[in-house]
Amino acid sequence: MFDLQGRTIEYLRLSVTDRCNYRCAYCMPAGVCGGLRELLSLGELAEIARAAVACGVRKIRLTGGEPLVRPGLADLCRMLRALPGVEELAITTNGSLLPQLAGELKGAGVDRLNVSLDTLNADKFAALTGCGELAQTLAGLEAADAAGFRDTKINTVLMGGVNDDEIVDFVALTRDHPYCLRFIELMPIGACAHWPAERFVKADAVLRAVPALRPIGVSGVSELYQIPGWAGTVGLIRPMSHRFCAKCDRVRVTADGVLRPCLHAPDGLPLRGLHGDALVEAIREGIARKPACHHLTVDCPSESGRAMYEIGG
Ligand code: 5AD
Ligand code: SF4
Repeated sequence: MFDLQGRTIEYLRLSVTDRCNYRCAYCMPAGVCGGLRELLSLGELAEIARAAVACGVRKIRLTGGEPLVRPGLADLCRMLRALPGVEELAITTNGSLLPQLAGELKGAGVDRLNVSLDTLNADKFAALTGCGELAQTLAGLEAADAAGFRDTKINTVLMGGVNDDEIVDFVALTRDHPYCLRFIELMPIGACAHWPAERFVKADAVLRAVPALRPIGVSGVSELYQIPGWAGTVGLIRPMSHRFCAKCDRVRVTADGVLRPCLHAPDGLPLRGLHGDALVEAIREGIARKPACHHLTVDCPSESGRAMYEIGG
């Protein structure tokens, strides 16, 4: 369906948990405890997805926290994939549990994966994620490949003074492997809302570091580049320097059942307890009310009132 700005909304990001097995410094730093809110049941999640499809949603992405820590995730995927009208079911994950779960998720009908990976240095990875192991995420990427997932995207949040010295190494991953590697500008939300300005580097830094990249098109909110002859592509997602709200085609539902038409807007619409037509109507109303754009700048953090892990990245 269309929102009031005339944007077609057909993409639902459904958070299945606010828990995570990592503690990334910008999202859920050490000491932050997820799991304080009461999660929707698998049945409630499927019911909301079904109602969203009735409102025109065609693509569903499961997010977290870390979606793979949610018990019964594959069962939920099977239910969602069986909904008539769902053209694509995807998951965004930190990849750490893919060695155990990639095959099961593929079998449950998941079409594509996005794997978050912010550094290729094992020590930095451990420091940045609080408790994560680089080898596990790399094994997760291999497991996804072995399970038959194609077009896996790697999401890298650019952080000045943290990983902007690794841009060339990241791009090198696309030489022989058909990954779509996407650099995402850090947004001031949650734990990083008041980080120093030098952490918020513009994605232009990627083009300066790798002048051989050539523009090859646009995919959703990502501008695509490639080094001619290389197997993979490099995407730039620039919520800060090139606000793409006019092209935004998504709504989010948090793991406790709040419809969030915009990641950065303060208001949400509670869906828990609504069923049938009332649920469909509530989602319709939420989509129609989707704000025109966000007002983020380095000095003006998100008005979301929640952190990324509490909304769904
Ligand atoms: N800015 C940009 N991206 C973020 N993510 C989490 N927090 C932020 C932020 N403040 C990303 C994660 C992951 C996805 C779920 O959202 O790194 O790729
Ligand atoms: Fe977990 Fe993802 Fe947040 Fe890291 S960014 S703490 S992996 S939800």
